[in-house]
Amino acid sequence: MPPAPAPAPEPAVLAVFEAAKGFMPVGEGLALYEAAVEAGRLGLPLLEVGTYCGRSTVLLADAARGAGVTAVTVDHHRGSEEQQPGWEYHDPATVDPELGLMDTLPTFRRTLHRAGLEDHVVAVVGRSPQVAAFWNSPLGLVFIDGGHTDEHASGDYEGWAPHVAEGGLLLIHDVFPDPVDEFTGQAPYRVYLRALESGAFTEVSATDSLRVLRRTGQGC
Ligand SMILES: C[S@@+](CC[C@H](N)C(=O)[O-])C[C@H]1O[C@@H](n2cnc3c(N)ncnc32)[C@H](O)[C@@H]1O
Repeated sequence: MPPAPAPAPEPAVLAVFEAAKGFMPVGEGLALYEAAVEAGRLGLPLLEVGTYCGRSTVLLADAARGAGVTAVTVDHHRGSEEQQPGWEYHDPATVDPELGLMDTLPTFRRTLHRAGLEDHVVAVVGRSPQVAAFWNSPLGLVFIDGGHTDEHASGDYEGWAPHVAEGGLLLIHDVFPDPVDEFTGQAPYRVYLRALESGAFTEVSATDSLRVLRRTGQGC
């Protein structure tokens, strides 16, 4: 028997993903979706750190809808270091003209509405470690795509990886083992190595800079 085709998002959702502002290429998005569908079978929430304008969130949300679970996405919506004015990944359209600060929350809400997925997502506006500090519930999937400094990436790992349930998935974006590819830094790569070295996670797949790991042991 030929292998079953990989699950794919609804075409309307994929169209919203492709049109949304953000940093995830389609190939990685499809791998994210496939992992989310698998993790959804655990019947637990799927959590993302790093919402930005909702590009990756709609794929998690579509998988969550199919599984009958909720997607949770955490972001302070003030942008990462490299997204601030004067930096390479800055988009002036994300600045709130009244405050002169980045605010990606309104664009995220439009993205989610356009995808028809508002009922399947809980958006938490806040700093990842502050939210993780009071989170007390197992998760089927944790997708780390927040700040790319060592402080932020390791804070995301320490705050959220402990909540990945047995058999659940830990996904890390922007993993660049080769410093030549280092456009966003290597902190996510260091977190990926830390997860493997902990003995708690085993690699399932790698799609460009997206790594999918499964919890196969205790701790982290
Ligand atoms: C690379 S973007 C996320 C991209 C998004 N997943 C996508 O596919 O388009 C990183 C996001 O993480 C958020 N962020 C950075 N550090 C954070 C922190 N400590 N707590 C919460 N959000 C943070 C930024 O505001 C930014 O929106």
